Amino acid sequence: MNHFQRKGGVLLAEDLPVEALAERYGTPLYVYSTATLTRHWKVLHRSLAGIRHVVCYAVKANSNLAVLGLFARLGSGFDIVSGGELFRVLRAGGDPRKVVFSGVGKTDEEIAFALEAGVRVLNVESAPELARISIVARRMGRRAPIALRVNPDVDPRTHPYISTGLRDNKFGVSVDDARRLYPLAAKDPALEVKGIACHIGSQITTVRPFLDAIDRVLALAKDLGRQGIRFAHLDVGGGLGITYKDEAPPHPDEYGAAIRKALARFPGEVLLEPGRVLVGNAGILATKVLYVKRSGRKTFVVVDAAMNDLVRPSYYGAHHEIELAGAAREGGREITADVVGPICESSDFLAKRRRMPEPQPGDVLVVRSAGAYGFAMSSNYNTRPRAAEVLVDGRRVHVARRRESWADLVRGERTLPAPKARAGQAGPAVRRRARRQALPASRRIG
Ligand code: LLP
Repeated sequence: MNHFQRKGGVLLAEDLPVEALAERYGTPLYVYSTATLTRHWKVLHRSLAGIRHVVCYAVKANSNLAVLGLFARLGSGFDIVSGGELFRVLRAGGDPRKVVFSGVGKTDEEIAFALEAGVRVLNVESAPELARISIVARRMGRRAPIALRVNPDVDPRTHPYISTGLRDNKFGVSVDDARRLYPLAAKDPALEVKGIACHIGSQITTVRPFLDAIDRVLALAKDLGRQGIRFAHLDVGGGLGITYKDEAPPHPDEYGAAIRKALARFPGEVLLEPGRVLVGNAGILATKVLYVKRSGRKTFVVVDAAMNDLVRPSYYGAHHEIELAGAAREGGREITADVVGPICESSDFLAKRRRMPEPQPGDVLVVRSAGAYGFAMSSNYNTRPRAAEVLVDGRRVHVARRRESWADLVRGERTLPAPKARAGQAGPAVRRRARRQALPASRRIG
């Protein structure tokens, strides 16, 4: 269920027509629904009612401060994978004691920042990382709260780029390594064993792989328990899929019920790291049609959003529904077209061979299910300013990120110093030109 519905043929974001938002805030534009974000978080939270748990939203899916702030107000925890994400969580008012820090390549600075901030746990992904965390903690005169991210070697049956729980993935430590490392960690005075974690992949559309992973992690936790190693929490990771086209993933209620059952006898707290399921269908990308171009036998709908704004179709071959924001034209015809952006790459497309009503230049198209890994994966390729993001709440609009300007894009860059002119050559005109070139682009174009 989401709050992007048609009324009178026109697509609304909660109570506002998407076309009007595109007109007012420009395109490409990410639009998020506050009601949908709130609803998704609450549904997942309630699905685990009855067991002690913390929903730690995976910041990487959509890290806008307004989105993080909304979840923080609901009482959410956060799953982070960088110092930058921790910085965002703190900025947004998130509680560091509900933060889990995952990721295979934490730097000393990031480890120190996390310990300083007082995060709940660092999910450790290798023996050398465990050693590093111990050194950094000792240097700071602290004990680092840790969990090992165990790789349960379960196939999540999803896209290979987003499978993470197989033996040959770079993530986590094997069950055997975990068996060896936990007793060492338990003996290390700079470390405090808090939990055990796993995460097997993303966009998973059946409950089975989750349950297989939990079974293996739980069996390991029991074994270690016999050696006196106790876990205050078990982190089941994220990965629950959503409907982009015709996938039928389990409803969060079904997912929650399965987890509750599998962990009914686990005495500690359960942590979850959901990303996509909370934000994916709570966001759309609005884009304007620039041209309809026929080339050979193909038709291209050229729009002002590109792979730099939403990379999922080019990168994963992902499907996103695309529709007209406004009402369909009477008697308009259907075409089969590739929806493409202005970037100089043949892989720059949002959809291929898509049946759609023939749009006209100036029409606003809506790319659905763009709330997760949409803006968060966007870039400035081709020196394109990143899109604006707005959060709609009923009839109110909060600009969560203003559109970048060209000046934003060169902030932090510097041209070379003007070459030293040889004697007799550096007339005032040459010097003026050199100075002018050193000005930021914004000043040059006025
Ligand atoms: N926890 C960890 C340790 C993760 O690596 C991830 C996602 C999550 C939680 C959240 O997973 P989710 O609930 O969102 O499935 N860019 C890709 C998805 C990459 C997911 C990476 N890890 C995409 O656009 O499909």
